[in-house]
Amino acid sequence: MSDQIKTIGVLTSGGDAPGMNAAIRAVVRIAISKGLKVKGIQRGYSGLLNEEIIDMDAKSVADIIQRGGTILYTARCEEMRTPEGQQKAADICKKHGIEGLVVIGGDGSFQGAQKLAHLGINTIGVPGTIDLDIACTDYTIGFDTAVNTAMEAIDKIRDTSTSHERCSVIEVMGRSAGYIALWCGIANGAEDILLPERWNGDEDSLIAHIKDTKARGKKHHIVINAEGIGHSQELAVKIEKETGMETRATILGHLQRGGSPTCKDRVYASLMGAYAVDLLCQGKSNRVVAYSHGEYVDYEIDEALAMKKDIDEYQFDVSKHLAR
Ligand code: ADP
Ligand code: F6P
Repeated sequence: MSDQIKTIGVLTSGGDAPGMNAAIRAVVRIAISKGLKVKGIQRGYSGLLNEEIIDMDAKSVADIIQRGGTILYTARCEEMRTPEGQQKAADICKKHGIEGLVVIGGDGSFQGAQKLAHLGINTIGVPGTIDLDIACTDYTIGFDTAVNTAMEAIDKIRDTSTSHERCSVIEVMGRSAGYIALWCGIANGAEDILLPERWNGDEDSLIAHIKDTKARGKKHHIVINAEGIGHSQELAVKIEKETGMETRATILGHLQRGGSPTCKDRVYASLMGAYAVDLLCQGKSNRVVAYSHGEYVDYEIDEALAMKKDIDEYQFDVSKHLAR
């Protein structure tokens, strides 16, 4: 048992992601196994500021590992961006005896965690977002489930697209990042993949490619468009007008964020949750758990937030050669 920390808190913040429950379960059960008390903070920083704090025991995380979403609920909270809100959040942690806090969320949530660390609360971030857009880590909780969900949905759209000999523009989530689009583009054998990191706005070349595949006898043309580019409906109208190929736009939307987590998301999230508690027990603070080059590691939050991430060039290059 740690000499320093007796009670820790755990919260989920930002967009929910499948696997967050596995991480919460691991935080609670590993902490209990080390003799710590655990408080669950509901609704992210918003719930912290409203003192929506509950005691958690091993039973309170029973029967959740297979469930999507987050049992602690999640929220976005403007007040936490202000120095007053951050000081209030730190004071509330102290009032409830919360000496260490595990924040499961994305880059925005880590900024909140960083502020709390500077105000004397030991904080550890765990990367939870379907977008895979956290620079310090090759894995984020929820991405694997989200791409599998999107892939299955796109397979279904492809069936009907082929039957009608149509073009389909399918928009996937990712905020300003194109990882979901790139993975689905490869996994679904899309003819075109539009990524915010690489898209140069050249719709004429896209249309020429669609005309070319049609001339070569292709029975459908799947365009995976990333949310960060958007305008899928307008793009579909333009494609239909200029290629003569009937075109439909589908925005997959929030279905990508739900559902039972994959095995990978359950296992990686469990290990990251456990790792976060280990760091707190070692007296660490202001760190984020990451998965890098096949290993679980941790970085200073400041260092993690300063890192930049880009689409893997080789992966992107291969995707273009596969998409014909
Ligand atoms: P994500 O964590 O998925 O990136 P957001 O960017 O929406 O999601 O951030 C989640 C929450 O983290 C915000 O609603 C806010 O409460 C908190 N947050 C974001 N940026 C900051 C910041 N600069 N300082 C303090 N808290 C922040
Ligand atoms: O960050 C996860 C995410 O699903 C993004 O892919 C998307 O841009 C955003 O959240 C949607 O947020 P909301 O649920 O508030 O519509």
